[in-house]
Amino acid sequence: MRIKLIAGNWKMYKTTAQAVAFARGFKALCAAGGTKNEIAVCAPFTQLAALKAEFGGSAVRLGAQNMHFEEEGAYTGEISAEMLAEIGVDYCVIGHSERRLYFAETDETVNKKLHTAFKHGITPIFCVGEALEQRDAGEEFHVVRKQVAAGLAGIGAKNAASIVIAYEPVWAIGTGRTATSGQAEEMCAFIRGEVGKLFGGEAAGKARIQYGGSVKPENAAEILGMPNIDGALVGGASLLPDKFLAICGG
Ligand code: PGA
Repeated sequence: MRIKLIAGNWKMYKTTAQAVAFARGFKALCAAGGTKNEIAVCAPFTQLAALKAEFGGSAVRLGAQNMHFEEEGAYTGEISAEMLAEIGVDYCVIGHSERRLYFAETDETVNKKLHTAFKHGITPIFCVGEALEQRDAGEEFHVVRKQVAAGLAGIGAKNAASIVIAYEPVWAIGTGRTATSGQAEEMCAFIRGEVGKLFGGEAAGKARIQYGGSVKPENAAEILGMPNIDGALVGGASLLPDKFLAICGG
């Protein structure tokens, strides 16, 4: 039985004061009525320690949005997995399409980051998804298969069983244009099949596969009701406590 993970991806939003205000508001709302799903907030680096203090002792998990693949070194401006683990970060978004697009991340660097995250006990939220031209050209399965195979290369069945993969069609991110629940389910099922081919049925049955891209309170229940969709990665709609909780199933 896979527990659904609803993860907020705050991107480059909120100061630490605003993050703390969110955490207090969200905890108060949760206290009024919880959810059976697992909840995580993936925040900018500067907010992580404060959020750990706020969410510590609650069921809300903490995530980062990026990390370097090297253990340490002369990489000005970068953050290592060990630094995140020290704060008590549970998850790290890896290979988000915005990082692939604006920060030159490749399947190869994404793969290295997955290896390093697992080594430090951080569960990756590994993002894959096709661009609009690729879907229009009928290449979406080919593109996602390649991203999955390259990203997961060499991670092993045990890690594959614990991973979170977020299927985020690039054309649905921040555009208000959500994939239909049928399109999302079809691709999440396909990804599970690919994980099965690479690491076996047991790992595929345990890996959690999320959908992301314009998830909001109005469409969350339908998307989360699909059999191969084990949660959501939520951008814009995760910034307000009441909106986010409505998606989490509170
Ligand atoms: P969105 O972003 O929900 O604002 O579309 C999703 C994401 O980028 O993870």
